[in-house]
Amino acid sequence: MLPALPTWREIGPEIKAEAVELPFHVLTKDSQMTFDVVDNKVRRIYYGSRLTRPDDVLAVGSSSSTLFYPTRMDAMGPWENATGEWDISITQGDGTNSLDLVYDSCLRARPHPGVELVAIVLRDTYYPIRVSLYVLAHDESNVFEQWVKIENLGSKHVTIDYGATCHLQVQASRYYVTSFRGTWGGESLLREEEVQQGNCLTLRSDVGVRTAQEGTPGFVLALDHPAQEETGEVYLGALAWSGNYIMNFQHSAYGKMFASWGVDMQEAPYRLGPGQILVLPRAILTHSMHGKGEASRQMHRWARRCGIRDGHQERMTLLNSWEGAYFTYDESLLQTMMERAAGLGVELFVLDDGWFAKKYPRDNAQAGLGDWVVNASKLPNGFETLIQRGREKNIQFGLWVELEMVNPKSELYENHPDWVIQLPHRDQRVERNQLILDLSNPEVQQYVIDCMDRLLSANPGIVYIKWDCNRKIADPGSLFLSSQCQKNLFIDYINGYYKTLEAITCRYPHVVFQACASGGGRADYGAMAFHHEFWTSDNTDPYERVFMQWGIGHIFPAIAIASHVTVSPNRQTGRQTSLKFRFDVASTGRLGFELRPQDMTPKETEFAKLALETYKSIRPVVQFGDLYRLRSPYATGEAALMYVWTSTDNGKQRAVVFACMLQKLLATRAAPVQLRGLHPGKRYYIRELNVDESGNRINLSGVEVGGDFLMNHGIPFQFSQAIQSALVEITEV
Ligand code: GLA
Repeated sequence: MLPALPTWREIGPEIKAEAVELPFHVLTKDSQMTFDVVDNKVRRIYYGSRLTRPDDVLAVGSSSSTLFYPTRMDAMGPWENATGEWDISITQGDGTNSLDLVYDSCLRARPHPGVELVAIVLRDTYYPIRVSLYVLAHDESNVFEQWVKIENLGSKHVTIDYGATCHLQVQASRYYVTSFRGTWGGESLLREEEVQQGNCLTLRSDVGVRTAQEGTPGFVLALDHPAQEETGEVYLGALAWSGNYIMNFQHSAYGKMFASWGVDMQEAPYRLGPGQILVLPRAILTHSMHGKGEASRQMHRWARRCGIRDGHQERMTLLNSWEGAYFTYDESLLQTMMERAAGLGVELFVLDDGWFAKKYPRDNAQAGLGDWVVNASKLPNGFETLIQRGREKNIQFGLWVELEMVNPKSELYENHPDWVIQLPHRDQRVERNQLILDLSNPEVQQYVIDCMDRLLSANPGIVYIKWDCNRKIADPGSLFLSSQCQKNLFIDYINGYYKTLEAITCRYPHVVFQACASGGGRADYGAMAFHHEFWTSDNTDPYERVFMQWGIGHIFPAIAIASHVTVSPNRQTGRQTSLKFRFDVASTGRLGFELRPQDMTPKETEFAKLALETYKSIRPVVQFGDLYRLRSPYATGEAALMYVWTSTDNGKQRAVVFACMLQKLLATRAAPVQLRGLHPGKRYYIRELNVDESGNRINLSGVEVGGDFLMNHGIPFQFSQAIQSALVEITEV
């Protein structure tokens, strides 16, 4: 297991830095970025594979990529300059829309072994504006994090009209962009499209919060050919931001690709006061000459080291009460669910919505949000009995909260109607009967921190928090922000959310946090700095989950992807699936349950017990292993993927293969699945897992074969019908 690295937030001004002269290179194991100054402008002249002699890129001269191309109103209009690039646009204090950044200085430091931080400082030639670009290079994973700080050093307000965090210029014959778009119940669905010459592909979300529901802010950019798993040049990028974002891929008339991404400010320029600073969110970038498979593995490695919380710690299996009980329960029902879950071997019980509020009890989605006191008619002993009983049965306790929200029918709203995001003289539009609190207001932030503090300090037995957020921003007005700064709400809200989470998670570092936002609305690396995992989708149909988990798995490692076994027919889609299929799919992520274990038949209970034990035995392989996508459900009607992990005990490889048939004609047969990532010369023992009464899906179980056989011949799976699956363990002997 890799040791945890401090995250980017912990690299403060106290680190020892040295001045550097340009040109210079920022290097990782296999990648290289080279910066230079041409006519006083900083340019990133190269980003690609690391060269044996990094200086060789200087031989071609420095005419290629610019670092920032500030817009000049006087020359070309507010959004574009002559080359079609647009990164940062500022309206200065005197009303001039212009920014002319030149090189000032450059510092580099090694805050930790294997991590290099570079800060390139630029200043405007006339106006008191300083812009710094930070690049954090992770040697082992080949990931670069990059972010921008804008400082208003003058005495007047300025307005930032556009502020991209990252800009990438590349040149190839064709460009293919893969995105992961969706909506409620169908998040992160993969789509690949070619961007034709002269066209611009824009991916954005402008709903304020829960923005990843419309698409996680991440992409694959493949050069020359559609993205392949193991071949071809690709860039894989993500934005660590939970608010409005925009990612532009402009294939210029002259054939270059200008990709830029950052906070979407088109509707909401940011007003920056004298002496104020705006830090734009991190872009996360990785490059590979060996396809999107390697690019994902690099991103996942970085994520487990420092992109998500405690990425080196195994995650518990859990039972969440939502689909098993919804709002309707009492202590005895919960206790039964929890005890039966413990009997199956589940390690954590999570009490979902419905446990709180006094005056307006939370018995449905109409009332109670905001009043975070236990509803004594449902839980007369608070959480204590459940926590205590859990201790006896060896199952821990977790809780659902949605602290950013309020129902109009609540004591909180009665006391603080001014805390709600609202436009004066307009009706307040509710969504799911709720309003959203104004987290740009430090008083509201403190209220949220205090609520959480009260809950966690009074109940030290709470070890897991599901942090939900079930609506967007619709009426973007703040009674806290000044009239000139109303549009700052979109950025200040998200920074307020991060500040709040930071305060809570620093105070309770041992508590595991799940990011939920009506399902996968916060599957982004901004939220993941404070959370351990995300709830992938409210759609728990395993058939549909194969597609969603395939998509989101391009950007996030399995350890962050919560995947639960629920009842059949599925409550959202009505689709019937076997318990085995449901287990197999959920076992490719962080396995959990949402059902009433007491309603399972003895046969199902027996299967579930074994499958849980099996999951625990393969847990390090799934949660820490390298992902190889073998057969895409988007291309074939089948799906297959595998995780490969080298055991820390004996240095030998262990792998888990998941394969399934999604659509099948009677006469079609699936071709054997060729594995990857194994040693061709080593021998491996094969064991089929989660076999149910329908029998084995492979005839190699219990057999020992070579890695070369598994990677060249492959494993033939026997699927007689659609919606069948197999889980196979491969162990180096
Ligand atoms: C959201 C979540 C669900 C559940 C409900 C509770 O929809 O995504 O998992 O927690 O809220 O109201």
